[in-house]
Parts: sequence; structure tokens; C-alpha cells
Amino acid sequence: MPADRILDDLRALRAGDLPTHGGRTLAYVYDSGLSGLDELAAGAHALASSTNGLDPTAFPSLLRMENDIVAAASALLGGGPATVGTVTSGGTESCMLAVHAARASRGDVTRPRIVVPSTAHAAFHKAAHYFHVEVATVPVSPDTFTADPEAMAAAIDDRTVLVVVSAPSYAHGVVDPVVPVAAAARERGVRCHVDACIGGWVLPYFRALGEDVPDFDLSVPGVTSLSVDLHKYAYCPKGTSVLLHADADLRRPQFFASASWPGYTMLNSTLQSTRSGGPLAAAWAVLNHLGDDGYRSLASTVLSATRTLRAGIATMDGLRLQGDPRSTLLSVAADADDFDVFTVADEMTERGWYLQPQFGFESSAPNLHLTVTAANHGTEELLLADLAAAVASARRSGPVTMGPEVTSTIAGLDPAELTPEAFGALLAMAGMTKVAAPKRMAEVNAMLAVAPPPLRERLLVEFLSVLYTPGS
Ligand SMILES: Cc1ncc(COP(=O)(O)O)c(C=O)c1O
Repeated sequence: MPADRILDDLRALRAGDLPTHGGRTLAYVYDSGLSGLDELAAGAHALASSTNGLDPTAFPSLLRMENDIVAAASALLGGGPATVGTVTSGGTESCMLAVHAARASRGDVTRPRIVVPSTAHAAFHKAAHYFHVEVATVPVSPDTFTADPEAMAAAIDDRTVLVVVSAPSYAHGVVDPVVPVAAAARERGVRCHVDACIGGWVLPYFRALGEDVPDFDLSVPGVTSLSVDLHKYAYCPKGTSVLLHADADLRRPQFFASASWPGYTMLNSTLQSTRSGGPLAAAWAVLNHLGDDGYRSLASTVLSATRTLRAGIATMDGLRLQGDPRSTLLSVAADADDFDVFTVADEMTERGWYLQPQFGFESSAPNLHLTVTAANHGTEELLLADLAAAVASARRSGPVTMGPEVTSTIAGLDPAELTPEAFGALLAMAGMTKVAAPKRMAEVNAMLAVAPPPLRERLLVEFLSVLYTPGS
């Protein structure tokens, strides 16, 4: 096929995606709203995409750029002269490597465990699953959704290899009390990781702008590692995060070397081995172009947008904010029972916005997540007006109701024994003739909401398995 036709086809396919620019998609994407930034990143990506980070001595440009990026992250996030780091492919990889390094550093512990607040990102559960680590999940405070430092300290035992806190948590945008948790970990000689994947490149600038941001970075005694994603609030293209360690000894167990085969000695700093230099170069270009002043200005823009949205939602009839968000993330729950918040999500989709449904969990009610970015500035009132209209519309439809046969079918499902037939029957009950996301998700979300998490996980794995079957 000729190149231009292929690109036309790709453009046509992309037209079916959620918009990645313009502030209409309030999850998954981070838009600076600055013209020219995408072109710079794409140009830098193209210059380096054929290089291979597998061997940094063969591609010293990658080594230089990675060291530059780590130094910038360390300077921003309280690192000291001993701080070292690694650029990874994203937040999940950074969190997984923090768990792996902690586990590998404690060969003396036969059944290692990590202590996490219940709001910690699912990446830690993924790490535990992959690396056979037990997770001790500590409930957060039911009103503030922040980690409970006493309960976290009490959960640390002789098998604990890592304690985790978030700055902020994804679901509620609140910053955990890093100081007392890190102190408790230090007292027990246990590593403490701060997951600042989403907040790390914006909270320091919020503080510089005068916001009250609790201490959370590597300068806090006891914090041994910190993750910060460049593909979030550093507004870099997808594929870069930084994992910082307080010193090289803490980082060493993260690395992997194998000389046990006849080929090149495999020597890796991350989970990947062959690693494109593209995302790294793109991030390096964006960081250098924006610089401290650029990020400060973007932080001021997103702060203003978040404040306006927060104030508008807090006073909107029928909605309430959960927790006291300190960053750029909002969790919006229904404040009345005559409508369903997931219907509001559908109504917003019809109005051209994507808000992300989050299921109820412990004291957290079913809610909609908003990741606010700089691109949301200027259209706050439009979003608020559409949100008010979406709530009114959801009220007219009333809450989603499920027949007793649906509830009892879900109650009777055993995640360990879910058959393709039972899954098919459930899809039919949800009104889905084939596996594809329907236009309106409220009914599907209502069904998923009554499924306990292990069943929900199993159902969604089945869903993914069918989705990723060619021709399905
Ligand atoms: C706090 C936090 N940690 C980890 C992650 C995982 O990052 P990624 O999706 O880049 O793997 C996220 C993603 O939103 C996050 O918000």
C-alpha cells in the first residue's frame, strides 16, 4: 500500500478514538495545550527511535539523556548528591521495579510482603502478583481517604520489604502523610516508596505557587525511592517515567545481568531489554524546552482550572467531591439517590466529554474521576454547564435498576469457574450481542458494581481475552 494511503487509513482509525487534545478527555491523556510541543516531541522521537537502550555504551546519546532526566527529576523532588535513578516505560514499570528491588534486597525473607494503603495504585498489586509478594492492604481514613500512619506502622512486620505511600493517590487526588509513614518504615529498617507517578511533576510547582502541599519527596527522612511519570504532568509523550532511589545501593538489586547463555551478556536496568530511545529523546526534548519556567506556568494554568472545576462541582446540586484533593485530580460522587453517577458519565460522553467511572470501594462511593490538565483552562464553565445538564438528564432517567435474575446470576458466579458460556449469558443480560464497549455503559457498570472485585477482575479478563481475538 502506498504510504499516504496507509496514513489516511490510520487517520480514519484514530477518528474513532477519544480526543487526546482540547481537554475533553479527563483521564488517560495529559494535554499541555501548547502549540508546537507535539511536533518537537515527535521530531526528537524520530531522531532516536531506531537506537537501542539495551547497550548504553553503543548509544551514548541515550546514556547522556537518561542521566540528564534523572538529574532534573532528582533536583525537583528533593534528591541529594547520592540520588540515582532510572528512566522506565511508565508508572507501572517504575512501581514494579521499586517492589522488585525491595524484594531482591531481602534474600533473608522467605515470604516477603509489602504494606500499602488501600488507595495505592493497582500497579503494586500487579507487582505483587508478578513477583510473588504478599500485599498487606491497610484501610485508609474513611473521610479523608489518606493513609492512616498508625495503622500503616502497625502493619509493618519482619517480613515487610517495602512500605508504599501516594502523592497523590489516583482515585481521590489526596496526598498521604508521607512523613510519619516514612519515619515508621525507617525505624524498622524497611524501604519506603513514594508513588508520585501522577503528582510528582506538578506538586513542587504548586508549592512554589503558594499552595499548601504536604512534604512528600526524597527529602523526607526514610523515603528510599520515588516514582514520577514524565508522560503525565511533564506533558511528555507516552512511554517515560523516572524511578529515583536515595542511593546506588538501594537501586542495585533492581538491575539484572545474565551471562548464562552464549550470546551477549544481558544487562538491564528495567523490565525491558531492547528499549527504544524514542520516548527518552522525546521526554528530554520536552523537559529542556519547557524548563522550570514553563512547568511553573503550566502548573499555574492547571491549578486555576482545577480550582474553578472544584468550586463549581462542590456547589452543584446533586454532586459532591470526595476528600480534599491537593493536586489536579477530582473524585465526584452523587449526593442524592435519585440518579446514578454512571449515567452522568454516559450523559457527559454524549456531550463530548470523557469522565472515568470509579466503582465504590470501602468508604469511597461510586464516582467519576477527572484528571484535570492545562488544556482544561478556558473551558471550565462549559464543562460545568454540561455536567449540570448531565445530572439533570440522569435524574430524569432515574437510577439504573437491575432485575433480580441479573443480581442472582452475578451472585451465583464463581470467578474460579467462569465459563465462556456463563460469560456470554451475562453479556446478553447486559444487552450486548458482541464484545465491544456499548455506547452507554451505565447498565454494564451497574452489573460490574455488584460483582465483588475478584469476580469483576475475572469478568474483565474474559472481556479482554475476547476483545484481543482477531475478528471478534
Ligand atoms: C499514582 C499512580 N501510580 C501509578 C500509575 C501507573 O502509571 P502508568 O499508567 O503510566 O503505568 C498511575 C497512573 O495513573 C498513578 O496515578
